[in-house]
Amino acid sequence: GNAARDDRPTTGGPADSAFVRACRREPVPHTPVWFMRQAGRSLPEYREVRAGIGMLDSCRRPELVREITLQPVRRHHVDAAILFSDIVVPVAAAGVDLDIVPGTGPVVAEPVRTLADVERIRPIDPADVSYVDEAVRLLVGELGNTPLIGFAGAPFTLASYLVEGGPSRNHLRTKALMHGAPDIWHALLGRLAEITLTFLRVQIAAGVSAVQLFDSWAGALSEADYRRFVLPHSAAVLGGLAGAGVPRIHFGVGTAELLGAMSEAGADVVGVDWRTSLDAATVRIGPDKAIQGNLDPALLFAPWPVIEAEVRRVLAEGANTPGHIFNLGHGVLPETDPEVLTRVVALVHEASAS
Ligand code: CP3
Repeated sequence: GNAARDDRPTTGGPADSAFVRACRREPVPHTPVWFMRQAGRSLPEYREVRAGIGMLDSCRRPELVREITLQPVRRHHVDAAILFSDIVVPVAAAGVDLDIVPGTGPVVAEPVRTLADVERIRPIDPADVSYVDEAVRLLVGELGNTPLIGFAGAPFTLASYLVEGGPSRNHLRTKALMHGAPDIWHALLGRLAEITLTFLRVQIAAGVSAVQLFDSWAGALSEADYRRFVLPHSAAVLGGLAGAGVPRIHFGVGTAELLGAMSEAGADVVGVDWRTSLDAATVRIGPDKAIQGNLDPALLFAPWPVIEAEVRRVLAEGANTPGHIFNLGHGVLPETDPEVLTRVVALVHEASAS
């Protein structure tokens, strides 16, 4: 938990924020809180500035990225901003023909199935994503002591979109490639790990205070398959950032059985969805990591007394170990009432204050 008060004088700045301190398992004045997908369709001000502009296009306009990233910070007073972008942005920069279709997600024109397909995905150069560098610098200048979280998609989740050609329930073609052509599979994940590492290094060089690696769909795998086909590539990304000086968060959905392995991949903080209690997750993650989560995003549609009780339950579980960052178990659903999110932030701050 974050209960102990620290009276040492602070130097200020985002590295001394409650969020970054909790990532490092240091004492904090209150439990920090932010929400995955805090920027986006739940906010009317987001829908207004996005009107008529495509998702990928939006991610390449630094002034618009700046505005959208700041919206939830202004409105909810969350403890961290997360860069407005998407996991497929670096893959598009690598030359893959794709689009983000509203209501569907990323759709890839020519799915990746052969070694020749893999070789057409170019490694990226920082100059290929200069708009991300520019957006991060704008934001860091404006956010002051509020930390900015950078992020990328993990190799497996990116591969799933590339191999399936779009969102998938069962990941059939992905698993067929993994097991049927392991050489092509490892070439693909190796290339994606390289691109992801470059993308995250650009964000870190531009000033983000932490990074989150989203392996959203890893929970589709058994632990044995995760360890054999995925972990080495995610470890290459997280390990490649070991000396970068910013905390690394590793998150996936439905990962109860994978938490130990995902922790071994090299994160400082492990994100947990709502299916696993923070107490059970802590045992699997091990004693030396911070934990992030894990209110069910669907619970935000319940009456306030139910939400309040659940927030307090999550805080109580998080208090059993040093280093808890309050979040949802997955992203904010677009239909969520933003006033409920603002209230949750205030409650987390008030209920956890020492
Ligand atoms: O506020 C934030 O969290 C930062 C922004 C962010 C977006 N995508 C913006 C976005 C982040 C962190 C992502 C990551 C992302 N993108 C993930 C990993 C996180 C997760 O949810 O598990 C994944 C799997 C994607 C792929 C993707 N992009 C999906 C599934 C969708 C939703 C499709 C839809 O319309 O329902 C997108 C599009 C997308 N990315 C939107 C936003 C705000 C919605 C598009 C819009 O507003 O027009």
